[in-house]
Amino acid sequence: MDKTVSPVSSFSATLTVPPDKSIAHRCGLFALLSEQQSHIKNYSQAADPQTTLKAIQALGAEVRQEGTDVWITGTGRDNIAQEVEKIDCENSGTTMRLLSGILAGSGTKTKLTGDESLTKRPMKRIIDPLTKMGAEISAREETYPPLQFTTNQKLSYITYPLPVASAQVKSCVLLAGLFAGGFTTVIESQTSRDHTERMLRLPVKTNSRGETEIISSRDHVLNPINLTIPGDFSSAAFWIVAALITPGSEITLPNVGINPSRSALLDIVKQMGADIEIEHTEDDPEPTANITVRYSKLSPLKLNPVLVPNCIDELPILSVLFSFVDGTSNFRGAKELRYKESDRITAITEILSAIGADFEEHEDGLTIHGKSGHQFKSAEFESHHDHRIAMSAAVASLRALEPCTIHGAEAAAISYPEFWEHVESLGQD
Ligand code: S3P
Repeated sequence: MDKTVSPVSSFSATLTVPPDKSIAHRCGLFALLSEQQSHIKNYSQAADPQTTLKAIQALGAEVRQEGTDVWITGTGRDNIAQEVEKIDCENSGTTMRLLSGILAGSGTKTKLTGDESLTKRPMKRIIDPLTKMGAEISAREETYPPLQFTTNQKLSYITYPLPVASAQVKSCVLLAGLFAGGFTTVIESQTSRDHTERMLRLPVKTNSRGETEIISSRDHVLNPINLTIPGDFSSAAFWIVAALITPGSEITLPNVGINPSRSALLDIVKQMGADIEIEHTEDDPEPTANITVRYSKLSPLKLNPVLVPNCIDELPILSVLFSFVDGTSNFRGAKELRYKESDRITAITEILSAIGADFEEHEDGLTIHGKSGHQFKSAEFESHHDHRIAMSAAVASLRALEPCTIHGAEAAAISYPEFWEHVESLGQD
């Protein structure tokens, strides 16, 4: 599907972003692990979280959806289906990686498949620790889906220092640890998003080297999940940037999750000089706020690589921001971006080239020489079936002199089904 986005001169809007995708996946998967009924309010209608609901149904959970309310009666740890021919994780890496931890623990014989994008994403990062725990998983070229789970051996605990700063790998191992004898400890030196440990209330401590250790075990009590999912910060990021780069604009985003392990973009844009107000509305289990952002004259920024895992999904839209800020900005230490729904570093360079921005590509990041008054005429963009690339291209298009076209625009529905309506609601010129 192609979408044409026309430029806007300025806008003033309030937009409700979709429910947090990462939290929604976890609600579904953790509800499977409880025998009692979970009630989740504001569950996402986006494609990815719906994929997780289908997966837990295949494993025996009862799911009832009414609008954005979802009731799930799980199987509990001990009654997960033992044989399921195939579970399609579609485009969702989070579904595949987190579910793998559960399947390794439950001993379910099954095959996890995915779409064209997911079957190109590396899974060795989860196969390695799960194999160490006793699971048997085979994959194409030892890393690519489909993943075949063949054994129902009991798992043993491990102590696992994360080789990559990845919340998906961390969560996968911790979930497997919920089925294993002894204490499974995941050690992370760089903080990645912490929704799993927060929502499951897992013990977390800091070791003598200053690293974080998160512990799970078969004895950990699993309660049903009863929560209202906040708005997705990663979706809000598109509008934060759109307001910051469009002169005279202002946007308000109610009830957005601002978990610090996810929302480094807020600190980044504040450091660049953004006019941004954060009004806290909730704290437990996830900090939530109303965010208001106004167009601002920004200074360039060299991103501290320590922050990369805390803004990993926002780096495409941050690159668009950098290209509209006078001076040289950059981010490094983000090679992980090459293994997302697309090779996002390459995909961003295509957006930057299409809008005529000046940049250098690195294996692990980008250096961008931006201009606040940057102008470009009509451009065409390719989403590469990647929702965040489609939406980043759309935000860049708002600053064009003529309408731009985004090919593969349907990808936005992976996390943000209302995205194109929201673009139109800004009152395009
Ligand atoms: C996610 C973790 C991140 C992120 C992804 C969602 C999660 O992946 O990019 O969109 O929900 O745990 P990694 O943990 O692999 O970096």
